[in-house]
Amino acid sequence: MMLRRQGEPSPGGPGWERRAVVYEVYIRSFADANGDGIGDIAGIRSRLPYLRDLGVDALWVTPWYPSPQVDGGYDVADYRAIDPQFGTLGDAVGLIADAHALGLRVIADIVPNHTSSAHPWFLEALAAQPESAARSRYVFRDGRGAGGSEPPSDWLSIFGGPAWTRIHEADGRPGQWYLHMFDAEQPDLEWSNLDVRAEFEDILRTWFERGVDGFRIDVASSLVKDHGRPGQPHKADPASSAYGSVNDPLMNQPGVHEIYRGWRRVADAQVPPRILLGEVHAPNPAAVAGYLGADELHGAFNFHFLRCPWEATALRSVIDETIAAHASVPASPTWVLSNHDEIRHVTRYGRSSTGIGDRSADERLASDLKLGTRRAGAAALLMLALPGAVYLYQGEELGLPEVADLPDGVLRDPAWERSGHAMRGRDGCRVPIPWSGKAIPFGFGPTGTAPWLPQPGDWGRRSVAAQSGDPRSMLELYRRALRIRHEHPGLAGDTIRWLTSPGDVLLFGRDAGFACAVNLSAEPFPLPAGVDVLLCSDAAGPSGDRMLAADAAAWFVR
Ligand code: NOJ
Ligand code: CA
Repeated sequence: MMLRRQGEPSPGGPGWERRAVVYEVYIRSFADANGDGIGDIAGIRSRLPYLRDLGVDALWVTPWYPSPQVDGGYDVADYRAIDPQFGTLGDAVGLIADAHALGLRVIADIVPNHTSSAHPWFLEALAAQPESAARSRYVFRDGRGAGGSEPPSDWLSIFGGPAWTRIHEADGRPGQWYLHMFDAEQPDLEWSNLDVRAEFEDILRTWFERGVDGFRIDVASSLVKDHGRPGQPHKADPASSAYGSVNDPLMNQPGVHEIYRGWRRVADAQVPPRILLGEVHAPNPAAVAGYLGADELHGAFNFHFLRCPWEATALRSVIDETIAAHASVPASPTWVLSNHDEIRHVTRYGRSSTGIGDRSADERLASDLKLGTRRAGAAALLMLALPGAVYLYQGEELGLPEVADLPDGVLRDPAWERSGHAMRGRDGCRVPIPWSGKAIPFGFGPTGTAPWLPQPGDWGRRSVAAQSGDPRSMLELYRRALRIRHEHPGLAGDTIRWLTSPGDVLLFGRDAGFACAVNLSAEPFPLPAGVDVLLCSDAAGPSGDRMLAADAAAWFVR
C-alpha cells in the first residue's frame, strides 16, 4: 500500500483537510451494483480499492438521502435516512467503515438551503395557515398586486423562471407564495427560524456519530436572504455567472456566518473533530476566505480557479489572489477544475472560449477534444502542484469529455424545462463512468444494465481498464501525479515562488527544488538546464533538448 502523509496539525482544524485530494463521487453515475441503471452505495464500496490506488485521501459522496430526485438528490425528503435506490443505512455505515479501513475519509453532502417539497415540514406548511409556525420554517409571503397574484419580488430561480411559486390554501383558493432559488420542488428554508437551526445541528451530529469525516455544504453562501431589496434581480451580473454576483440579495448576506459558527462548534465537539467545506460562491477569493477560520468553515471550493480561462495571466492572478486571501486564515486554498454542475474541463479547454460564461451560450460552442484533453492534462499538473487541497470530479482522471449530444428525451436536469430549453443543463457531465469492457454499460453495472443516462458507444476506450498500464493515458498521469504529490517533500508547504518566465508560461517553485512549468504559449518552452524531470503531461515528454511543448506541463527538480 502507498505511503500516506499524515495531515500536519493545524490551528483550527483536524489537519488532514489542508493537503487532501478529495474525489467527488456523483452517486447516481459512479458504479451500479444491482443493475437498475443507477449508481449505489454498494457500487461505491466495490470501487474503494480503485480510489485508494488512484491515490486520493477522501471521497465526497453527493446526496444519498430519500428524495424524489428532481434535482439529482439535492431535493432531500429525509436528512437522516438513505434513499432505497442507493441502499440502506447499513450500506452507508459499511461504506464509511470500509473507506476508513483503506485510509480514505468520507465527506457527506448536506443541503441546508432548501428541502424537497416532499419533506414532511413542507407538507405540514402547505396544510397550515399563513403566519403559522409550520409556514415560518420556509419563506412564505403574500403576493403583490390585485388579489396577491404577482410574485412577492422579481427574484429569479437559478434554473430559470421566477423564484416564487404560488400555493393553494387548504380551502382550495390561490394563496401565498414560497421562495425557491432552484426548482419549485426545492422550497428554501427560513434560517432565522430556530427550529431550522436546531434541526440541522442535530442532523450533523447524527451523521458524525455514524462516522462521516465532514460535510460538503450545498449552496453554503445563500442561506440568509436580504428581503429588503425585493426588486434587486437575483442574477444581478450575468457576466459573473448565475452565482457570486456583487449585491445579490440571495448571496453572501452577513447573517450566514453565525450559522456556520454554530456548525463549527458541533464539528469541533466530535472526537476526532470533523470538517466543513462550503460551496461558497462569492465575488472574489477574499470574499470566499471570509467564510473560513478557526470558528467557521475549514475550506471552500475555489470556483474562481474552476471558472478561469486557459490563459496564463488570468490563472496567475487567480492563484495569487487565492493564496493571498488564505494567508490570514487558518485554512488552506483549494483547487478544482470540474464538478457535477459544470461542463467538463476537457470540453471547456477545447473551445475558443475556455472560461465559464452564460451556460446556454457555452453549451453551443464547438470543442476540439484533442486540444482540450492536452490542456486538461497540463491543468491537472498545475492544480496538483499548488499548495492546499484539491477536489477531483469522478471521470476527470479518465479525461472524460462532456457528453454534449444526449438526446433531448433523456435530459433530467430541471434547468432544461425551467429554462424553456434554453439550457440543456448538467446531464452531460453526469454520464455513468466507464470501468471496463467494450460494450455499454462498460462495467458501470452488471452486463445488460441500461445506465440512467446513455453512455457514448465509444467510451470503452476511455475506461479504467483500457487506460490502466498505458503510460500515455490520463489515468496513469493522474496516478503518477498523485503518488509524487504524496511523497515529494517539496509539495508539503504553503507557498509558491514565481520564477522568471515568458508571460504565457507559468513557472513556479515549491520547496526542496520542486518546480512546475505550464506552457500556455503557442511555442515550445525550454526548461531550465540541468533539471531532473519528474513528470510531464505530454506523453512524448519534454524532448531531448528539454523543450516543453505548447499546452503541456512538467514537474521537475532543480
Ligand atoms: C449545488 C449543487 O451542486 C447542484 O447540483 C444543485 O442543483 C444546487 N446546489 C441546488 O441544490
Ligand atoms: Ca443501482
